[in-house]
Amino acid sequence: MSTEKSIEKLRELRERSLAPDDRRALERQHDAGKLTARERIELLLDKGSFQEIDPFVQHQATGFGIEDRRPYGDAVVTGWGTVDGRNMFVFAEDFTRFGGSLGEVVADKICKVLDLAMDTGTPIIGLKDSGGARIQEGVVSLHGYGRIFERNVRASGVIPQISVIMGPCAGGAVYSPVLTDFIYQVEGTSHLFITGPDVIKTVTGEDVSMDDLGGAHAHASKSGVTHFVAADDRAALDEVRYLLSFLPQNNMEVPPFFTPLDSSDRMEEALTTIVPDSSNQPYDVIDVIEDIVDDGEFYEVHAHWAGNIVIGLARLDGYSVGIVANQPAVTAGTLDINASTKAARFVRFCDSFNIPLVTFVDVPGFLPGVDQEHDGIIRHGAKLLYAFSEATVPRITVIMRKAYGGAFLVMNARAIGADVVFAWPTAQIAVMGASGAVNVIHRREIAAADDPEALRAELVADYEEKFNNPYIAAENGLVDDVIEPRETRPRIIRALDMLRDKRRTVPTRKHGNIPL
Ligand code: HXC
Repeated sequence: MSTEKSIEKLRELRERSLAPDDRRALERQHDAGKLTARERIELLLDKGSFQEIDPFVQHQATGFGIEDRRPYGDAVVTGWGTVDGRNMFVFAEDFTRFGGSLGEVVADKICKVLDLAMDTGTPIIGLKDSGGARIQEGVVSLHGYGRIFERNVRASGVIPQISVIMGPCAGGAVYSPVLTDFIYQVEGTSHLFITGPDVIKTVTGEDVSMDDLGGAHAHASKSGVTHFVAADDRAALDEVRYLLSFLPQNNMEVPPFFTPLDSSDRMEEALTTIVPDSSNQPYDVIDVIEDIVDDGEFYEVHAHWAGNIVIGLARLDGYSVGIVANQPAVTAGTLDINASTKAARFVRFCDSFNIPLVTFVDVPGFLPGVDQEHDGIIRHGAKLLYAFSEATVPRITVIMRKAYGGAFLVMNARAIGADVVFAWPTAQIAVMGASGAVNVIHRREIAAADDPEALRAELVADYEEKFNNPYIAAENGLVDDVIEPRETRPRIIRALDMLRDKRRTVPTRKHGNIPL
């Protein structure tokens, strides 16, 4: 064949690979409010940057009734392109072809980009919209999922992995996204579950809709599986681009620097009055965070789940930081099982990817309750303790108000390896709250008093005067300095600057044994 003819053939094949395989399926996709795989990739990546690979792959399955339908590229579009000029790998399941189901070659294509992403230290984004294992290909499809899971685990902590659920994702297929670092779900069109409503109805008799079982809000607020909810495909992809701006390419690099509009010396007077005079009065810790970080810009992660702790990404003097903060406005900021798990995983993510941690503390303790004890608060609370203790990135702590007991230690105390600890003058750093302490150490005296309540009040006031302050901790070097709230931003920025080249080696071992 002449060169001219062979190029003509290539062009024709390429056109065929780009053409919709089934126009009705394409219309149904748009009617359902969903974009196609290619439209999604176009929105995610910088314009014109997408480099497709494997566009001519065709399934090789025979004997299952799909021999006559072998669309080029099969049911996933894969390749790389750039986001804000940085390379990213991407795979987008194509629901208009066999319902985006995963057969052998689909798995091969996804494994190929995962391997390339790991080899080159490049983030990978998976756009999920699939009916699961391709039924016609049976166990070969299951094997394909296994190959993907194994790679997700190997890539964990090496390159950022992001999943965007934009359609169905059911059965064992859910285990790929949940092994990745962040999950986005699109409202109304995305569903994640191990067993669907019909099976649940048959097995347990429970009636539940697809949305209530596995929709975006169910997983963002109840199970904690989903980190971010987006109104539609476009909004989800915009948010992924924003998230990527805080992240490095891999575990050997640091996140990109963005010159802030904000001054590194900015004093924030609003912080002077943010902690209420009464120690039981709530305030919103997000206001504190926004007053301190560059340009008031805070990207909250898991905003709808375990609201008693706040986690998210921001920048200080242009550098990415991970924020962990107790939220006094929700259950007084106590630590419970979900809060511990939520923060622990985030701390480990930041530590994997060289993102310094800034912790804001106002914690009265762990949440008391039989349910919490029996559901394993000991085991789950230990995750946060473990995650902070092993983190080698720069770690700064600011104690704003309460820092009591074990919860004080777990929230990145000096004892577990914080590099710099500041306390506001309103800090109360103690073994426990005044009333609990007085009940323990003065129980007999109070019981024997003529007026027990008057004596109790007197003893509580005395304890508060003596112990509910930051100075005993400062005397002992457990806090490095007591600072005015308004100077928090410059003081954190200077500490982070001092810690920029922090190197802490970790002991040689295969891996630790975090209490899971
Ligand atoms: C092959 C599939 C498919 C699958 C959908 N299709 N799922 N083909 N294997 N798993 C095809 C349909 O036959 C149909 O083809 C097209 O995709 C669109 O599907 P519809 O049913 O018309 O779409 P919709 O009404 O939107 O329903 C979507 C759906 C439903 C809810 C996902 O298709 C469904 O329940 N699919 C099966 C889900 C499932 O049980 N998967 C296996 C799970 S087990 P035509 O040609 O008619 O357009 C699993 C194990 C993984 O995944 C294990 C890992 C460890």
